[in-house]
Amino acid sequence: MLPPLHQELEDLKSQGLYRTTRLVKGPQDRHVQIDGRDFLLFCSNNYLGLANHPALKKDAQNALRTYGCSTVASALISGYMAPHEALETRLAEFLGTEAALTFPTGYMANLGAVTALVGPEDIVFSDTLNHRSIIDACRLSRATVAIYPHKDTDHLNTLLQSKREYRRRLIVTDGIFSMDGDLAPLPELVDLAQKHGAILMVDDAHGTGVLGPTGRGTPEHFGLTKGIDVLMTAGSKALGTFGGFIAGTNDLIDLLRNRAAPFIYTTALPPDACAATCTALDLVDTTPDIRNALWKNIHTLRQGLEALEYDLMESQTQIIPILIGDPDRTMAISAFLYDRGIYLSGIRPPTVPEGQSRLRLTLMASHTKEDIQQLLEGLAEVRRIYF
Ligand SMILES: Cc1ncc(COP(=O)(O)O)c(C=O)c1O
Repeated sequence: MLPPLHQELEDLKSQGLYRTTRLVKGPQDRHVQIDGRDFLLFCSNNYLGLANHPALKKDAQNALRTYGCSTVASALISGYMAPHEALETRLAEFLGTEAALTFPTGYMANLGAVTALVGPEDIVFSDTLNHRSIIDACRLSRATVAIYPHKDTDHLNTLLQSKREYRRRLIVTDGIFSMDGDLAPLPELVDLAQKHGAILMVDDAHGTGVLGPTGRGTPEHFGLTKGIDVLMTAGSKALGTFGGFIAGTNDLIDLLRNRAAPFIYTTALPPDACAATCTALDLVDTTPDIRNALWKNIHTLRQGLEALEYDLMESQTQIIPILIGDPDRTMAISAFLYDRGIYLSGIRPPTVPEGQSRLRLTLMASHTKEDIQQLLEGLAEVRRIYF
């Protein structure tokens, strides 16, 4: 019998941590329809605005027509189809690795890669601000977990020096941190992994398509062509699609195919998601203007936010947190903006540490100068009323 859950929900409400969904009508774009009203959207991961792009929709529709709605089996049974093979080949080529593997989501790609690589005789070194899917992956792996302070490579070096008695040692980090928008110190992490003979895994879900001269992501931003052993990314952010991906050597991918439970025991990614992701990767290659427009928006908005003297934490990217602190105040500010037609969600614990509730602002290439101006006007009012 289900225990009484009401009190738990009431507790969440009294702590300002209760969450609900909002029903978005129509496609994901810079404007969305909610409750019959139009909102300017500043909290989606659709950084390049590709989720509703005609070319992606056309190729997804073609795949739907040709291959149907579902793979209706795991990849190792009968669910591996031509769009999966095409996407894996394209991902490996795009990311400059020998091979790649598709998972149904980014969350599952992280679970799969970490649990396949490490177990009870191993240790994982994980940045304190890594995404929840990495935290869960570490727990599920039953490896020893050593959490190092955010981006603190000196501390990590000390940990690597002292914790040697393990079969495998895995360093894992977000490339762009999903709630703070700052970058992992990848060159230093590559050096540390090499110096200590550790494996390096980077979750570049938010970097792919956005960072680097050709949109290859955080490694390209730092000019790294080798040293990352396990590269994870996702369709669900800048690529505007769906799915989780691991790229690396042939042996790594072969091992994951054989050992990663979230690959083996689940239905393979739908064919239309694979087809749309291939098209998104092509667009990243052929239309650098989209990425350039995003970066122009990032610079414009940052200037405006800095003039308003907001605390933007250490953000360097399209993810720009506005630190508020208290969860109730954060949600009140989010509601204030919502009343003015601006959808900018508040993020509270446990997604972020206690005392660090924030508005997590994300930009799209398709936001116009006027959109950004409207947002800044709303935030100027917030500044006057709430600070
Ligand atoms: C850094 C990071 N990794 C992994 C994921 C999971 O990706 P997905 O939403 O495709 O499961 C997300 C987003 O939710 C993320 O922000």
